[in-house]
Amino acid sequence: MKPLVLVGFMCAGKTTVGRLCAQRLGVPFIDTDDEIERLHAPIEELFATRGEPEFRRLEREVVDAALRSGGVIALGGGAFAQPGAADEILARGRVAWLRVGAERVLERAGDRVRPLLGADPTRERVTELLLGREPLYARAHIVLDADGDPLALAERLAVWYAGAAR
Ligand code: S3P
Repeated sequence: MKPLVLVGFMCAGKTTVGRLCAQRLGVPFIDTDDEIERLHAPIEELFATRGEPEFRRLEREVVDAALRSGGVIALGGGAFAQPGAADEILARGRVAWLRVGAERVLERAGDRVRPLLGADPTRERVTELLLGREPLYARAHIVLDADGDPLALAERLAVWYAGAAR
């Protein structure tokens, strides 16, 4: 069974929904950001000391390993938008886009520092990044608005996946 892969912008709730969905399905859950931090260093530190290209290289390795191990995978917001990544991930997994608007990103962005947004992201910055990435996220096999209750979203995803994966 191909893994269920959650993609979408920062602050869409991929980790929360992914974890709930994995529990509901009774399969393992992997968050690629957590995995990078477990294997290497905090993401903020990787960006600061090694730069984004090196972070993306480590991310590619972690995504590849996650796709091989299966279950539910929550990707960091930029992973699916890297060159060649969407084609590969769409072929190897069932991909769900948790769609979120700039408003919601700005509301939630304070929960931790994300290097690409900085400590106090502006609407312009969020919109610019969102516009660049949405055409890629839109290639997902299913799109869900990420505004709803995480448990309800996880439930919908689990039902879709159980049907789609057959
Ligand atoms: C990034 C998103 C982050 C993390 C890194 C880069 C991005 O993950 O991978 O800061 O390029 O959008 P979340 O989407 O889990 O915040």
